[in-house]
Formats: sequence, structure tokens, C-alpha cells
Amino acid sequence: MRRAVYPGSFDPVTLGHLDIISRSSKMVDELVVGVLNNSSKNPLFSVEERVTMLEEVTRHLPNVTIRSFDGLLVDFARQCGARTVIRGLRAITDFEYELQMSQTNRIMCPELDTIFLTTDLRYAYLSSSTVREVGRYGGDLSAFVPQKILEQVYKKFREVQ
Ligand code: PNS
Repeated sequence: MRRAVYPGSFDPVTLGHLDIISRSSKMVDELVVGVLNNSSKNPLFSVEERVTMLEEVTRHLPNVTIRSFDGLLVDFARQCGARTVIRGLRAITDFEYELQMSQTNRIMCPELDTIFLTTDLRYAYLSSSTVREVGRYGGDLSAFVPQKILEQVYKKFREVQ
């Protein structure tokens, strides 16, 4: 069975993330979306909220499961029994960081390979930080986050203001 891990912060999940989840889930038997529980990043959404939002937007994808993780990605991948990591590449600016991360992971865990999917052009400049920036100023987020979680995301911005 081919199992892959798609890790990230997902603070919050965007249409770009969902595109990568949906496309990569067709390449594997099982895709585990790993939500990093990293308090030092001071996320806007709690890890539980991020997991729940991901569950809502991936409900139609039967081979996708959502899990949170702490610590190193290589350890999480081992626990999941996955030998493949999926990451999206939006633009050349992502490349250096992604290369560094995948090479570091391979040094720590040589059997773990990273597969990069190029992001759909519609989402080439979309990131969770853009969503947070637009949301903080009360902007329209319908082109950035999945419809199913739109209300929940607006609610969070109303709460933090
Ligand atoms: O969505 P993000 O914030 O770009 O995802 C980054 C993530 C979660 C994939 C990365 O920070 C990560 O794997 N963190 C776990 C800690 C780890 O393994 N670090 C070593 C890799 S260099």
C-alpha cells in the first residue's frame, strides 16, 4: 500500500492546499494530512480547529485522513508508515526552503522521499498568511478558502478583532 503524508500548518487551509490534497490523493492509496501543532508559531486557529476544518473540506475524499503532529516530520511519517511526503510548489521563491527541508528530511530518514506538485496557477500566489492578512482587514475570502469553512473563518476574524 502506498501511503503519503502531506504536512503543513494549514492556518487556515486554503483552496491551494485543497487542490494539492485532491490531486495527490489520486496518486496514492492513502493520504495522511499532517497538521503541525507548533505553539511557537502562534497560530490563529488552534490545532483542533485546523484539523476540523480540514476534515470538513476533505469529507468527499475517502482515502484522506487528517492527523495532528508534534516534533519532526520524519518521525510522524514513520509513525504513519509513509515513505512519501507531498509538498506543493507555488513559485521559485518556495524552492529554496522546500529543497532544504526535503534534503534535511532525507538525511535524517533516507527512505523518505518528497514529491512536489506544482500548484494550480489560480493559487500560485495564495498562502495562509495572505488569507490571515486579508481576513484581518475584513476582506472577501471567498476566492481563497473553501466555501464549507468560509463562515468559520470569518467568525474567527470577528472574534479576534
Ligand atoms: O505549511 P508550512 O508551515 O509551510 O509547513 C511546514 C512544515 C510543517 C512542513 C515544516 O515546518 C515541518 O515539517 N515541521 C516539522 C518539524 C521538522 O520536521 N523540521 C525539520 C524539517 S527541516
